[in-house]
Amino acid sequence: MSHRKKAKVFSIVNQKGGVGKTTTAVNLATAFAAIKRKVLLVDLDPQGNSSTGFGIPQSQRQKTSYEILINECDCKGAIIPTNIPNLHIITSTVDLSAGEVELVNIKQREFILKNALAQVIHDYDYILIDCPPSLGLLTINALTTSDSVLIPMQCEFFALEGLSHLLTSLDLVKENLNHHLKISGIVLTMHDRRNKLTEQVEIDVRNFLKDKVFKNSIPRNVKMSEAPSHGIPGIIYDAKCSGSIAYMKLAKEILEREEKK
Ligand SMILES: Nc1ncnc2c1ncn2[C@@H]1O[C@H](COP(=O)(O)OP(=O)(O)OP(=O)(O)O)[C@@H](O)[C@H]1O
Ligand SMILES: [Mg+2]
Repeated sequence: MSHRKKAKVFSIVNQKGGVGKTTTAVNLATAFAAIKRKVLLVDLDPQGNSSTGFGIPQSQRQKTSYEILINECDCKGAIIPTNIPNLHIITSTVDLSAGEVELVNIKQREFILKNALAQVIHDYDYILIDCPPSLGLLTINALTTSDSVLIPMQCEFFALEGLSHLLTSLDLVKENLNHHLKISGIVLTMHDRRNKLTEQVEIDVRNFLKDKVFKNSIPRNVKMSEAPSHGIPGIIYDAKCSGSIAYMKLAKEILEREEKK
């Protein structure tokens, strides 16, 4: 693989747990790969849900994002193929939670992932980083590495408060650590059109953030939640379900935004 251009790097970020970060990371990565882009997914969450989502057992997670961060392994040494053509992954395990602590006294600790990924940045079109539900050093490493941020958000009562906290944090990172960082957009997840509250929150979010919110939102769909237990991305598990169709449309919307620039 030798592409001339640098990969576009996206972090999938929200400090709130369970909002659909991993589901978005896994399905977008698969959707980009399906439309013939070369993709690397980085599992930067000690929960390792992205790795599990591709059915990668613990025994195949010998070199992970943890080994990269503590400098025991280079990027190429930790990349493994998935079952999906054009899609590679750097896995994680619970060891990564120790990594966050071990990095605290390391120089340039905010840039370790960025420096490591430089080795493969020309080998891919897109690199997606699935972040943990916090704004600690792991997420900071993802943000310094990234061109853009994707923010999955569930339309619930406290979502807007969480979102404004996140936007403030992203501004701080942009000012101090990565001047190039952009918000690619907000993805509305687990959307339920019949729910009045969902509808009102969606109106508020779209009024507040305008075209930063992607047109295509992701409906709540049971197939999406079943897929990880089979170790298959939702859009492969049932390509025709509403969730899969929405993620394919979202992938095209994102690529249109990116590739027309
Ligand atoms: N569109 C959807 N329809 C139904 N269930 C969904 C959908 N998206 C995600 N889920 C389910 O919601 C739960 C949380 O999703 P997910 O793991 O993607 O969130 P997360 O933000 O990565 O969580 P964490 O913060 O713990 O990493 C999971 O059980 C997932 O299967
Ligand atoms: Mg997750």
